Amino acid sequence: MLKIAKYPDPILRKTANKISDFDDELKKLSEEMAKAMFEDDGIGLAGPQVSQSKRIILVGDGKGDHYDVYINPEITFFSKDKHSNEEGCLSLPGIFGIVSRSKKIHLKYQDLDGNVIKEKVKGLKAIVIQHETDHLDGVLFTDRAEKITKGQDILDSLKK
Ligand code: CO
Repeated sequence: MLKIAKYPDPILRKTANKISDFDDELKKLSEEMAKAMFEDDGIGLAGPQVSQSKRIILVGDGKGDHYDVYINPEITFFSKDKHSNEEGCLSLPGIFGIVSRSKKIHLKYQDLDGNVIKEKVKGLKAIVIQHETDHLDGVLFTDRAEKITKGQDILDSLKK
């Protein structure tokens, strides 16, 4: 089982590398990431969170075991229309905060075979993709949070 990197692990602050090899190793990594995500009841997971500095994210549906894999995701459009929701993160256990995100995004990414795909996304999935692509650039939701709703004490103790 892949181990989840926890803040303040420096891997979480690094810019992840673009993926260029669409091989079996990548497919295996995505499957192992899915296991780790479901094990911790997550709805999203990014490469750096399993100590892999690679531009791969997974988005789960939060119920069953279905998930989507996005390689080298790029958000090409952020709607000006935003909403604020409470977010958490497997790398920041016990910490929650209110983050404002675009309601709709346009996404360009590659699938596990390297095919380039464009998709328009809204709702919870759009929030998760914004959160996870931030991870690829070393950004955590606590950097963007308007307010920490739970675990401010944990965050303060980790920042020391
Ligand atoms: Co996260």
